[in-house]
Amino acid sequence: MADLRSDTVTKPSPAMREAMATAEVGDDVFGDDPTVIALEAEVAALFGHEAAMFAPSGSMANQIALQLVVPRAGELLAGADAHVVSYEMGAAAAISGISSRTWPSVGADLDPAQIATMIRPAGYPSVPTRAIAVEQTHNLGGGGVVGLSALRELRAAADEAGVLLHCDGARIWHAHVADGVPLATYGALFDTLSVCLSKGLGAPVGSLVVASAARIAEARVIRKRLGGGMRQIGILAAAGRYALRHNIERLADDHARAQRLAQALSPFGVVDPAAVRTNLVLLDLTKTRLDAPALTAAAAEQGVLIAPMLPRLARLVTHLDVDDAGIDRAIDVLTALLRV
Ligand SMILES: Cc1ncc(COP(=O)(O)O)c(C=O)c1O
Repeated sequence: MADLRSDTVTKPSPAMREAMATAEVGDDVFGDDPTVIALEAEVAALFGHEAAMFAPSGSMANQIALQLVVPRAGELLAGADAHVVSYEMGAAAAISGISSRTWPSVGADLDPAQIATMIRPAGYPSVPTRAIAVEQTHNLGGGGVVGLSALRELRAAADEAGVLLHCDGARIWHAHVADGVPLATYGALFDTLSVCLSKGLGAPVGSLVVASAARIAEARVIRKRLGGGMRQIGILAAAGRYALRHNIERLADDHARAQRLAQALSPFGVVDPAAVRTNLVLLDLTKTRLDAPALTAAAAEQGVLIAPMLPRLARLVTHLDVDDAGIDRAIDVLTALLRV
């Protein structure tokens, strides 16, 4: 079986489980868990920020960060397909009291000058823009990497307008490996970041909010308010520390496997290998006989699991629990199905 639905389907390895089983723990709401404290310090240092805070999910980490950078009834600018506006169940509005305005989805290809024109100053009658969110890598943008020069231009525009910058960095590790940009270089460009340990890095749970010490102190209050204060979570933090040590650089293997999939499927006109930068492969099924649900069902019957995203769009994701044999199997099954 090759499960290519998502990089969140990975299971903790025996060595990761060993690290979890032997982790020192304490009550994290009291700030007593040494493994959590170590993980938070390590992640803050990786991104060159003062502090970081463990959160149970990427969505909660994003929402906590958004509350840090956008006061209630303030405005967030983001891409139309951004996870923070389109896939968090309306949390920015329902929980965080944030008004979102979007630029048309262009995947990872940002146009900083165009975004700058969308920024609205404070003062009656418009909703003041307080922050801009960028997704790195871009999930619905097929794992695209936002380039460093675009990010720098956006930072300059944000500074000029006095608005803050958040990075939904659920897969920022993949951007770091694909473009060779140090994590601290990304960190320096954002006021807040959320990063995930459970997407591609193999940990079962866990995300972190990364920011200044003052913002993280506030983040701890927001997390408790949301019901995200947890107790002996050193067990989870140990999995995260293991993931950071062992599973970042190996993402290059996942990227190479995604590229191999794209090359094999490109003759069917469903994917351009040049567009595949990291571990996500989007299949455009607008011209194929099978639509996304039909292709998904037929592949599943042969042990290859893929994700239907839209009626004519499917997603394949490589990760540390799919090896070369799994990719070969997926290529055999999918090419046979796309050929007919
Ligand atoms: C870009 C991005 N941000 C945030 C999230 C949310 O993470 P979680 O599922 O842990 O809430 C995801 C989940 O896939 C994601 O792809």
